[in-house]
Amino acid sequence: MDQWTSIYNAGVSSVSRATLGNQIFAALFKLAPDTEALFSRVGVSDMSSGAFRAHASRVLSGLDMGINSLKETATLDSLTSHMAAQHIARPGVKGVHFDVMGKVLMTALPTLIEGFNPDAWGNCLRPLKSAIAKGL
Ligand code: HEM
Repeated sequence: MDQWTSIYNAGVSSVSRATLGNQIFAALFKLAPDTEALFSRVGVSDMSSGAFRAHASRVLSGLDMGINSLKETATLDSLTSHMAAQHIARPGVKGVHFDVMGKVLMTALPTLIEGFNPDAWGNCLRPLKSAIAKGL
């Protein structure tokens, strides 16, 4: 939680959040090119557009809420099942895409976080990812 806060709230700069968002999505599209078309409604053709930045911001906020609710089971369950429903509603989104997203995060975050602890991060991200991908 502290390590996530250290980058997510670094200077509370929307620019650095936008950079993080773009870095994550660019890596996702490289590893799973079939996912890019899923984001056409939110301006993926221009990843520096307001529409795509707003999308990336929603995703990072979702991740932020998830990480910060890890110790509150009832909140976490409600939050993740809400996000699971939002993904089930989007045809073409597959469970395997979340495995790729997990890899992307476990590759991108160590470049930004000093003293990145892969065990701790794996234990946080794995259950979050599985809960958000439930039903896919
Ligand atoms: C939308 C979170 C991973 C595909 C969203 C939204 C959130 C979110 C909060 C906005 C929901 C709404 O406003 O209705 C997350 C989190 C993820 C994650 C926290 C994992 C860390 C993925 C993955 C895919 C995906 C791996 C598949 C490639 C989508 C699509 C949308 C979406 C297609 C809808 C875009 C639109 O509005 O047209 N996600 N997401 N997400 N997500 Fe995810």
